[in-house]
Amino acid sequence: MKSINQHQAFENEKSIHTDFKEKMTYSDYLGLDTLLSSQRLLSDHHDEMLFIVVHHVSELWMKLILHEINSAVQDIQSDNLRSSFKKLARVSQIQEQLKSVWDVLSTMTPSEYMEFRDKLGNASGFQSYQNRLIEFALGYKTEYVLKIYEKDPDLHQILQEAHEAPSLYDVSIQALARAGLPIDEDVLNRDVSVTHKSNESVKQAWMTVYKNVDQYWELYELAEELVDIEDLFQQWRFRHMKTVERIIGFKKGTGGSGGVSYLKKVLDQYFFPELWELRTEL
Ligand code: HEM
Repeated sequence: MKSINQHQAFENEKSIHTDFKEKMTYSDYLGLDTLLSSQRLLSDHHDEMLFIVVHHVSELWMKLILHEINSAVQDIQSDNLRSSFKKLARVSQIQEQLKSVWDVLSTMTPSEYMEFRDKLGNASGFQSYQNRLIEFALGYKTEYVLKIYEKDPDLHQILQEAHEAPSLYDVSIQALARAGLPIDEDVLNRDVSVTHKSNESVKQAWMTVYKNVDQYWELYELAEELVDIEDLFQQWRFRHMKTVERIIGFKKGTGGSGGVSYLKKVLDQYFFPELWELRTEL
């Protein structure tokens, strides 16, 4: 027999809304029709669903990363560093999620992948424009990748603008200068459409920050948040490279690169070189 409390709880359940003829549902709000019908398989292989979902999840997380970084850039430009910290810390947490997709993807064996790989044609994560927008936002500016997007003028325009915009690191260096730390004029007025190269004045400015943490606490916090992001980005790249080796060995990529050899090469790329160099000298 139901107790009085259980009976009351059961009565309350009945007030749950079920008539949605005129009201917005959960799936209306989230556009689930579009989201859940975007997994268009090109083969009847069981594991192609895994392959597509892992990419979709990754692209959704990338969308949120861009949303957070672009907003953090504005915060830093207006000297609102505290507000940027929350967003940059969120980016690191998203990166943790992005890294964990490799654990799910690694459950696919090489022979399973080979059974549908030819269906991908020349499609490759190399063409992920959100990945390029993130790289641009962090300061790694590769102009040649823009050519891929010429067939879509609107997208090309978005990428072109991101390519020519100051990166998270550019605005951080500007913040160092505004805090009174001497930065070379040619760094402050540099062409931001090319990748930043390590500069002695920038390194010395960060050194001053790390040696005077109390005085420059906010810049110190900013530096460590940047290092977290770069560290996690590299961890993602490493896991990608190792997962690729595990699944296709040293075969060429569908995007046309050497495959693992190419993915190993991009591991050498630094976004914030001085923040890594100063650790040897501190
Ligand atoms: C079986 C799974 C995967 C394989 C075998 C694979 C393979 C490769 C290879 C060989 C490349 C080098 C470019 C090329 O020649 O194609 C590449 C690039 C890339 N892949 Fe993957 N990948 C896989 C999964 C993923 C996933 C889940 C993502 C998440 C979005 C991803 C994102 C990327 C990105 C962003 C690049 C460009 C990297 C750069 O240029 O620095 N890949 N992939």
